[in-house]
Amino acid sequence: MVGSDDFRRVLSHFTTGVTIVTTCDGDGRPTGLTASAFCSVSLDPPLVLVCVDHKSQSYPALRERGCFAINILHAEQEVISRRFASTRLDKFDGVPHTLSELGLPLVDGAIARLECTTVSMHVEGDHTIFVGRVERADAPSGEPLLYFKGKYERLSEPKPGA
Ligand SMILES: Cc1cc2nc3c(=O)[nH]c(=O)nc-3n(C[C@H](O)[C@H](O)[C@H](O)COP(=O)(O)O)c2cc1C
Repeated sequence: MVGSDDFRRVLSHFTTGVTIVTTCDGDGRPTGLTASAFCSVSLDPPLVLVCVDHKSQSYPALRERGCFAINILHAEQEVISRRFASTRLDKFDGVPHTLSELGLPLVDGAIARLECTTVSMHVEGDHTIFVGRVERADAPSGEPLLYFKGKYERLSEPKPGA
């Protein structure tokens, strides 16, 4: 069986966008984590999935709340990605966001946001796959933040003075 270091190294060659998965806990407090294990599942009905580590602080809230949002980050939001990839408790402090009508935290400036109700959860190894039906979505657009071989990248060099 492949070792975990090798597994991580090989997987890191798959370039991804970067998302923040958000929901609210039982007390209505926003919670979230950086996640790249996100993809579309079905067009009709519109389904997506995200894989979340059982050690994530957000995991209980994701299981219990029954809904989550996916915020696809803009190239300029690396700082937000780093913040939500940490275990700090004040991740949302100073991060502009709005609560949607469904009660989900949406990160301002994200290039796309999808609000989902959880239709199924599948425990696989040390992660759970959350499958969500997309109830609302918008794509203010912009350049995406990318992740490749453990580093943040962008599609093009920033323009001088930008
Ligand atoms: C680019 C990137 C992608 C990540 N993707 C995932 C992912 O798909 N699923 C996951 O559970 N953790 C992922 N992580 C790790 C979590 O963000 C990290 O473990 C974080 O500390 C979880 O925060 P929490 O414990 O406060 O929930 C990723 C981290 C980075 C930097």
